[in-house]
Amino acid sequence: MRIVLSLVLSAFCMVALAQSKSAPVSYRKQIAPILATSCNACHGGATPQSRLTTATYAALMAGGARGKAIVPGSPDKSSLIAYIEGRKQPRMPIGGALKPAEIALIRRWISEGAKTDGEAAPVDPSKSPDAGSIRVRPDILPQAASLAWSKDGKLLAVGTYREVKLFEMPTGKLQRTLSGHADVVRAIAFSPDGATLAAAGGVPGVGGEIRLWNVADGTLKKTLTGHADCIYGFGWRPDGKQFATCSYDKTVKIWDAAKGESIADLKDHADAVYGLAYTASGKYLATGSGDRSIRVWDAQTGKRLYTLAGHTEMVTSLAAHPTADQIVTCSADKTWRVWNLRPDGGDAVRTSPAQPDVLTDARYSPDGKWVITSSNDGTVKVWDASNGNEVRKIANPDAILAVLVDPANQSVAIGGYDGSVILCKLADGAKSAALISVPSRAAAAASAPNTAGAARNK
Ligand code: HEC
Repeated sequence: MRIVLSLVLSAFCMVALAQSKSAPVSYRKQIAPILATSCNACHGGATPQSRLTTATYAALMAGGARGKAIVPGSPDKSSLIAYIEGRKQPRMPIGGALKPAEIALIRRWISEGAKTDGEAAPVDPSKSPDAGSIRVRPDILPQAASLAWSKDGKLLAVGTYREVKLFEMPTGKLQRTLSGHADVVRAIAFSPDGATLAAAGGVPGVGGEIRLWNVADGTLKKTLTGHADCIYGFGWRPDGKQFATCSYDKTVKIWDAAKGESIADLKDHADAVYGLAYTASGKYLATGSGDRSIRVWDAQTGKRLYTLAGHTEMVTSLAAHPTADQIVTCSADKTWRVWNLRPDGGDAVRTSPAQPDVLTDARYSPDGKWVITSSNDGTVKVWDASNGNEVRKIANPDAILAVLVDPANQSVAIGGYDGSVILCKLADGAKSAALISVPSRAAAAASAPNTAGAARNK
C-alpha cells in the first residue's frame, strides 16, 4: 500500500513538474491579479504614480515617466523587476513587498516574452484571498522623505509631497509650510550659516529641482533646475560656498551657492545615485549609488579620488561623521558600513550584521556616539558607533524613509513612507511626540472601501 501510494504521489509530482515546465505563465490568470491587488491603487486611475498604469496590459507595456518598465524576454533589464526586488528605490509596492513566489512568477512571465492572453475580469479586492496583503492607503503618498534639524535645534524641517513643513521645537508647533515644490522633497539641508534651507526633489523622469528658502521669513530665494531625473541627495560643502546634488540620472552636480549655477557634472556612477555627503573637514565628497559602489571625490577640485566597494546591493543612503573624515553607508544588502577616508584610499572599518530587511537611512548622532538606521520593515535601530553593538530597537508600524538625531543628542526624528513623523527619545526609545500623524490603516480602509488593494488591518 505504501509503495502504491508513493508511486501515485511521485507520478503526480512528475505531472505537476511537467506542467509547470510546459505551461507558460498566464498574464490574465496569474500576473494581472497580482498587479490589481498590489499596484493598481497607485498605478491606476486618472493620475497614476510616475505615469505608469498597471491596470491594463497595453498601459503596463507602454511604461511610465522613465520609459518602458518591461523588456520582454529580459527580466534583468526590466526596471519593474528591479523595483519589486528593491534594487531600485523606492521598492514597489511602496509600504509593502511582493512575496518571493509572486516575484518569481513575474520574472518567468517576462522571460517567456511578457505576452498577453487577454485582460482579467475586474478583481473584487474583498474577495481575493490576497486582498490588501500590501498596505496601500489611497491618496497617501510617500511623504516624510527627508528631515533636517537647524543647528540650534529650534527648527525641524520635514520634506513631504510638494511641501516642506517647518516645526518649532521643542513645542512641535507648525511654524510654516514652504510649498510649490514640483514633487516629493527627497533631500533637505540647512546651509552651514543657518540662513538658507535647501529643498531638493523634482519629477521622476522629468528633472531635478532645488528650492532655496530664507529661513528667517520663509521667502523663496531661488528655484534651480538641473539633472534629467529627480534628486535624491543634497549636501552643503562645510564652507557654504558650494553644494552638491545627486540624482536618479546617475550623475552628481556641483553648484556655486552664491551664483546658483551648476559648475561641474561628476559622471562616474553606473546607476542612480541615492546619497552623498561632504566630510566635516571639507576635504572629501562621497557619493553612494545603485551600482553598489561609493565614489570619493576631492571636495575642492571635484577630481575623482577612488571607489569603495563592499556592499553587495545598491547603496541607499550615505552620511558623514560630525568631525572625522568618516562616512556611514547603508544598503539594500541589509547591512550598514563605516568607512575611513584618506587621500589615497579608504578603509571599511565596520560592517553590521545583516538585518531582516533593506536599510533605507543611516546617520550619526551629532556627538558621533551613535549610528541610527532605518529599515523597510519599520525598524529604527540605535548602534554604538565605537563598537557597532546594537543598543536599541524602536519598532514602527510602517516602512521608515528617514531618521535624524537632534543637535542636543536627545531625540531621533523618524519619517515614514506613510507620511508620519514622530520623535523618540534616544535614551530609551520612548515616543515623545507625533508631529505628523496619518490616519490608521483601519480608518483609511474604511474611508475608501471600493479602492483596489485598500488596506487590511495587519
Ligand atoms: C503606495 C503607492 C504605490 C504602490 C502600491 C506601487 N507604486 Fe510603483 N510607484 C509609486 C511612486 C510614488 C513611484 C515614483 C517613485 C519615484 O520615482 O520616486 C512609483 C514608480 C514605479 C515605477 C517606475 C516608473 C517610472 O517610469 O518612473 C515602477 C516600474 C513601479 N512603480 C512599479 C510598481 C509595481 C509593479 C507595483 C506593484 C507591485 C507598484 N509600483 C506599487 C507608488 C506606488
